[in-house]
Amino acid sequence: VKVALLFGGRSGEHEVSRNSAYSVAKALSDKYDVFAIGISKEGEWYGPVPLEDIKQFVPEHYADKKITILPHPASGGTIYQLPGLKPVHQAEVFFPVLHGTFGEDGTIQGLLDLAQVPYVGAGVLSSSVGMDKIFMKKIFAEAGLPQVPYLYFLRTLIDNHIDKIITEIEEKLGYPCFVKPANLGSSVGISKAVNRGQLEEALKKAARYDRKVIVEKGLSVRELEVSVLGNDQPRASLPGEIVPCNEFYDYRAKYIDDRSALYIPASVPEEAVKRLQELAVAAFKALDCAGLSRVDFFLTKDTNEILINEINTMPGFTTISMYPKLWEYSGLPITELVDELVRLAVE
Ligand code: ADP
Ligand code: DAL
Ligand code: MG
Repeated sequence: VKVALLFGGRSGEHEVSRNSAYSVAKALSDKYDVFAIGISKEGEWYGPVPLEDIKQFVPEHYADKKITILPHPASGGTIYQLPGLKPVHQAEVFFPVLHGTFGEDGTIQGLLDLAQVPYVGAGVLSSSVGMDKIFMKKIFAEAGLPQVPYLYFLRTLIDNHIDKIITEIEEKLGYPCFVKPANLGSSVGISKAVNRGQLEEALKKAARYDRKVIVEKGLSVRELEVSVLGNDQPRASLPGEIVPCNEFYDYRAKYIDDRSALYIPASVPEEAVKRLQELAVAAFKALDCAGLSRVDFFLTKDTNEILINEINTMPGFTTISMYPKLWEYSGLPITELVDELVRLAVE
């Protein structure tokens, strides 16, 4: 089977995607014919990129290998060379190992739907709802899943009425609170605020990244994550726990500083494991996901409550990422995991 693997992309998680894609490409390459497509930060497609170059992908080195697919049914998975649209490869399945905007948010998924080619992971609607923290929370609330109290604001309101917003946040949520751009990942643009000055800064910062900003009550929590795999009958892994090396699990703690610790499995009571797995599958179904998702939870330290934080429809696959590690612990090594993901894409 010929798999086209998409990596890089126009998001703040471009580098993370390259690391994820390298792991996925290596795991696929035993069994599949992998055609790796690097997407530059500007959104141009290049390929094939040799697997060894994925992590260090430099678009300029592929100037004569500009490619594209066409959003037309007759093109199927045909990959065309630019300029001139000469077909250079025919892929049967796409694997968009892309995180964040223009990759995990339904845009690529829409293009692949138009080209009528199967792909790994969630479709357009599930991807975009999973990416937008505000819509995600609304759907989770509708499904009865427990969550942190939150408020959200448009950038125009932040630009023009910041004092009013701050007063509302202070009344309804208090400090500390977390301020986040609605549509981003890897903690980009997220701040914790403990006073008015920090809150003002945090709102302005988040509004630079997105026209919608979400503010949540900041809780003292343990962070637990569950991997979900499947289509209509998804199964959940055991939970893992993240202990960030920084004050919260920010970009630095995720990818730069290697002192954040992963515990697999998480040390929590049996009932909590069951509840986390049920909630993870419920979240996956609430968004009507497909293939894979990692569902992230908070366990509040003072009240021992399990709250759902978010779902990631294309979770990280780097060598330190929780999603593949949880499956590996459950007896599914990454080669078998990616194999199952490709099978789920075409079933
Ligand atoms: P991303 O989608 O970028 O991963 P998250 O919403 O998961 O963003 O937030 C990133 C990190 O910030 C979390 O892993 C956690 O460490 C911290 N965090 C986020 N929201 C809260 C909250 N309401 N209370 C406590 N910590 C939080
Ligand atoms: N957004 C990052 C890649 C993750 O969820 O692992
Ligand atoms: Mg997160």
